[in-house]
Amino acid sequence: MDSAPAAAAGGVCVCTYVFAVIGVVCSAYVALSCLRFVCRLVKVYALSRPLHLYADLSKMGSWAVVTGATDGIGKQYALQLAEQGLNIVLIGRSPEKLKATESEVRMRSNVQVKTVVVDYSGGREIYDDVERELAGLEIGVLVNNVGMCYAWMFDEFLDVERDLHLRMLNVNMMSCVAMTYIVLPQMVERKRGLVINIASLAGVVPIPFMATYSATKAFVCFFSRILEQEYEEKGIQFQVVTPGFVSTNMTSQIDVNAWCVTAETYVRSAIATVGLQSRTAGYLMHELMVAGFQLSSERALCKELKNEMIKFKAKHCKSE
Ligand SMILES: NC(=O)c1ccc[n+]([C@@H]2O[C@H](COP(=O)([O-])OP(=O)(O)OC[C@H]3O[C@@H](n4cnc5c(N)ncnc54)[C@H](OP(=O)(O)O)[C@@H]3O)[C@@H](O)[C@H]2O)c1
Repeated sequence: MDSAPAAAAGGVCVCTYVFAVIGVVCSAYVALSCLRFVCRLVKVYALSRPLHLYADLSKMGSWAVVTGATDGIGKQYALQLAEQGLNIVLIGRSPEKLKATESEVRMRSNVQVKTVVVDYSGGREIYDDVERELAGLEIGVLVNNVGMCYAWMFDEFLDVERDLHLRMLNVNMMSCVAMTYIVLPQMVERKRGLVINIASLAGVVPIPFMATYSATKAFVCFFSRILEQEYEEKGIQFQVVTPGFVSTNMTSQIDVNAWCVTAETYVRSAIATVGLQSRTAGYLMHELMVAGFQLSSERALCKELKNEMIKFKAKHCKSE
C-alpha cells in the first residue's frame, strides 16, 4: 500500500542527486575555466616581460615592415621592434612624418631604416610599387597596422560620405590582404615569420555608429585567424590584436586612464604577448573588456553601447 509514495520519494531522491551532480560538475567547469583564464592573464601580462616568455622577434628575419608607421600604435611597433634589433621599413603617406620617424628610430636604435611613401586609401595600383620597394629584403615581421576611422569616430552610417566608407575598406582591409600577399611567400620559403594584424575591440563586437569601421575590423580578425590555421604548419605565426582605447590621433588623444593607455605602454604590453596568444587584446584591461563583452548578450550589449555612444557624442558636441 505504501509502495507508490515510497517510489515517488525514491524518484525525488534520484532527481535531487542528479541535479546535485550536474550542479557540482558545472560549478567545477566554471571554476576551472576562470582559473585557466586568470593563469593565462598572469602568464601573458605579469610574467611574460620579466621572464621573457614571448617570442624572440629578431629570430624571425632581419627586417620588420610596419604600415601606418608615422604615428600612434604603428610608430611604437616600429620603435620597439627596432629596439629588439630588427631593421625597419616604415610605410606611411607623409614624407615629412616618415623622415621624422626615421630619425627617431635611428636615434634610439642602431638598425637600418627604409621608408616607403604610400597612401593606402588607393586601390590595387599602389601595391606594385610597394612590392618593388620591399624586394630583396629578408622580412621576418609584418605589422598590418594602418587603419582609419571616421572624423568623429562615431557616426551614423548615412552621416558619413560614401567615399569615406569606401576609403576605409581600402585602408583597413585591402592593405592587410595585399601586404600579406606580398610578404608571405618569402616567409613560407624560409619557414619562419610573423604577421601581426591590428584589428580592434570593434572587430570583436559590432559597435553601433561605427558600422564600416567595426565591420572592417571583424574582417581583419577572421582573415588573421584563418591564415593562422592555413600557415601554422609552414612555420608562420599570425597574431590578431584587438585594442580597446589607446590615446592616439585616431582617438583625439583622449585622456589616459585605467582603460585607455598611451601607444607606448600599449605596444610594450602587446609585443610581450607574441608567441603566447594568437588572438590578444594586447593589454590587461582591454582583455577584461573583451572577456566581459563576450559573456554578454550581443543584443543587450549593442543597445547599451548605442546609448553610451549617444551620450559620448552629445558631450563632445557640447564641448566643441
Ligand atoms: N587608438 C585606438 O584606440 C585604437 C583602438 C583599436 C584599434 N586601433 C587600430 O590601431 C591601428 C593604429 O591606430 P592609431 O590609433 O595608432 O591611429 P593613428 O594615430 O591615427 O595612426 C595611424 C597611422 O596610419 C597612418 N595612415 C592613416 N591613413 C593612412 C593612409 N591612407 N595611408 C598611409 N598611412 C595612413 C597614419 O599616418 P598619418 O600620420 O599621416 O596620419 C599613422 O601613421 C589602426 O588600425 C586602428 O584601427 C586603434
